[in-house]
Amino acid sequence: MTTTVITHIAGLVTNDPALGEGPLGLIEDAALVLDGETVAWAGPASRAPDADHRVDAGGRAVLPGFVDSHSHLVFAGDRTAEFNARMSGQPYKAGGIRTTVAATRAASDAELSANVARHLREALRQGTTTFETKSGYGLTVEDEARALRIAAEHTDEVTYLGAHIVAPEHADDPAAYVDLVTGPMLDACAPHARWIDVFCEKGAFDGDQARAILTAGKAKGLLPRIHANQLSYGPGVQLAVELDAASADHCTHLTDADVDALASGNTVATLLPGAEFSTRAPWPDARRLLDAGVTVALSTDCNPGSSFTSSVPFCVALAVRDMGMTPDEAVWSATAGGAAALRRTDVGRLAPGARADLTVLDAPSHVHLAYRPGVPLVTEVWRRGVRVV
Ligand code: NIG
Ligand code: FE
Repeated sequence: MTTTVITHIAGLVTNDPALGEGPLGLIEDAALVLDGETVAWAGPASRAPDADHRVDAGGRAVLPGFVDSHSHLVFAGDRTAEFNARMSGQPYKAGGIRTTVAATRAASDAELSANVARHLREALRQGTTTFETKSGYGLTVEDEARALRIAAEHTDEVTYLGAHIVAPEHADDPAAYVDLVTGPMLDACAPHARWIDVFCEKGAFDGDQARAILTAGKAKGLLPRIHANQLSYGPGVQLAVELDAASADHCTHLTDADVDALASGNTVATLLPGAEFSTRAPWPDARRLLDAGVTVALSTDCNPGSSFTSSVPFCVALAVRDMGMTPDEAVWSATAGGAAALRRTDVGRLAPGARADLTVLDAPSHVHLAYRPGVPLVTEVWRRGVRVV
């Protein structure tokens, strides 16, 4: 195996407290050794071992590639008009999802796949090296299974979200749609997915329906995650903890009991500030969750309706400015936090044995992600030990 040493790193975020300072395991004046696809060594540049190749990071910051644990990339069409109407005062409604369902059903496989590839490329250029993506704009047996097949061409982290909203043709009989989602649709979709998700919200699925859907998915070997407490208070977060879901996503409207439940369980709270930005909703209170001891992840929720951004750096900046996170916390949440939300330990950190997925910033410190908002700081991205950007 070929080894590479990256030297002259001003600040290396390892996310391993044993290797450096604080929860980020920050090492100043650092070096990183890659052995093929994995990290072999991380430490002070002065003690770096020899390697076959030498790369000079030029006094830049290096951090683990971002882990975007929540996106909805299998879609067609565009909702610019809906966004414009919102920015003129209209509220966000889950019903807008129907517009994208119609466009997605009408699109060819090739068109959908090209769309996923385009957005993943866009995310990669902004430092994202691991991404989850979902179905949820098909809502028939064939269209959901197709969405998952296409998603699986691009990532291993694939989520079945047949329970995004009740399909339009079942609008007058939601119970029949839940039977479809937990029956034939689940049978067709389970082989292509790792996760099952449900949008637990007024206008989508209530707590009992969400429990039935996630429980059926678990029985088929899928792991649960949930869109919870996004637009209003509700049962989603506590259901997530009860079912040991990997993540409760959004967490915008939380009672003290919701926060206590998250603090007592293994469920990560994934915050998606792009959605609050694009819907002018109140920000989720990251500070409250962190102070209660909850593990917090930050992701994009990239989708054409509520959050059409693929940029984790943008989400980091929002989280620092408006959600009470420190830059260190936000960077941890966008890397190690995202990995925890996907129950992964091989990504989201740069310690020996981890995957050599990393981002180089044209800045001396990871803090610049929030200090210099909107500036394209990501200058190099490496995946599995190979430079791809
Ligand atoms: O996570 N909340 C549910 N689903 C998406 C929005 C999807 C859409 O509006 O198309 C979300 O925000
Ligand atoms: Fe979402």
